[in-house]
Amino acid sequence: MILVTGATGTVGRALVDRLAALGAPVRAATRRPDRADLPADVDVAYADLGEPDSLDGALKGIQKVFLLADGPNIPAHDANLARAAARAGVDTVVKLSSGRAADPTADDPVPRWHRAGEQAVLDSELAWTFLRPMGFMSNVLAWAGSIRRDRTVRAPFADGRVAVIDPADIAAVAARVLTEEGHEGRAYLLTGPEALSPGDLTATLAEVLEVPLTFTEVSPEAAREAILEHGVSEAMADAITALRAASLEEFTSTVTPAVEQITGRPATSFRAWAERHRDEFRHA
Ligand SMILES: NC(=O)c1ccc[n+]([C@@H]2O[C@H](COP(=O)([O-])OP(=O)(O)OC[C@H]3O[C@@H](n4cnc5c(N)ncnc54)[C@H](OP(=O)(O)O)[C@@H]3O)[C@@H](O)[C@H]2O)c1
Repeated sequence: MILVTGATGTVGRALVDRLAALGAPVRAATRRPDRADLPADVDVAYADLGEPDSLDGALKGIQKVFLLADGPNIPAHDANLARAAARAGVDTVVKLSSGRAADPTADDPVPRWHRAGEQAVLDSELAWTFLRPMGFMSNVLAWAGSIRRDRTVRAPFADGRVAVIDPADIAAVAARVLTEEGHEGRAYLLTGPEALSPGDLTATLAEVLEVPLTFTEVSPEAAREAILEHGVSEAMADAITALRAASLEEFTSTVTPAVEQITGRPATSFRAWAERHRDEFRHA
């Protein structure tokens, strides 16, 4: 059986659905089993990556784990899971990491947190695969409010470009890696098909939503304030600001063939992602 952590989130939920559709036995881990709204035929277990004792029950009878931790807790939470998985006799951990963990020059918080998490998995001596995605296409859903309000996208680093990826493609890769042989000891840099600037993303959204949109560059400080207004911690706001600044570097424009090589179909374009998510921009 496969344990999916982060099963109620963007990537994890898509992965649970894919594994269930493949008929793979899957257990979804969440801190809120009563409110998780997962498919009825999926086994659901309580697990908090910050509470090592809660992991033993969730890991009973599990051969493979999809490990997804988030934010400043990534190093500690990945280590908790890796140790509990080794105790429980798990075979393999597939960790969702960050594309920028593969950039040797990256020294800002998110790649550092994920590298520490990867090291904890390596230290467990279990078989492993690391999925290192570039920025998610779904991050632009943060623009939905201002698109509805005044048809304007406000973002920093107008010249930055990122080879953004559809989170559903990450789930498709994870489903293959968790159900096929041959992925042990591999770290995959996962990207979308092209590197796009915030202005490019805005232009495509305008076409798909059939409304005129204006892109306005804002300062990194103003963008950080806007993040804090959403109740995000200072540490996370700093980490997101550093990630955004990294879009000015060449590395985030890297496009790899990994999604197509692993899933057998090309990586999803931003236009196709936007067409699937049109309603989320139109209605709150
Ligand atoms: N966004 C990007 O551009 C990007 C790019 C590259 C890598 N990443 C990485 O992708 C990951 C985020 O993935 P996502 O967007 O799919 O996540 P998400 O939608 O934000 O969901 C977070 C998930 O984590 C679970 N969770 C939170 N705290 C937990 C805890 N203490 N114990 C157990 N589960 C916990 C939540 O489950 P419950 O609340 O149900 O417990 C939820 O399912 C991060 O590692 C991030 O660094 C993101």
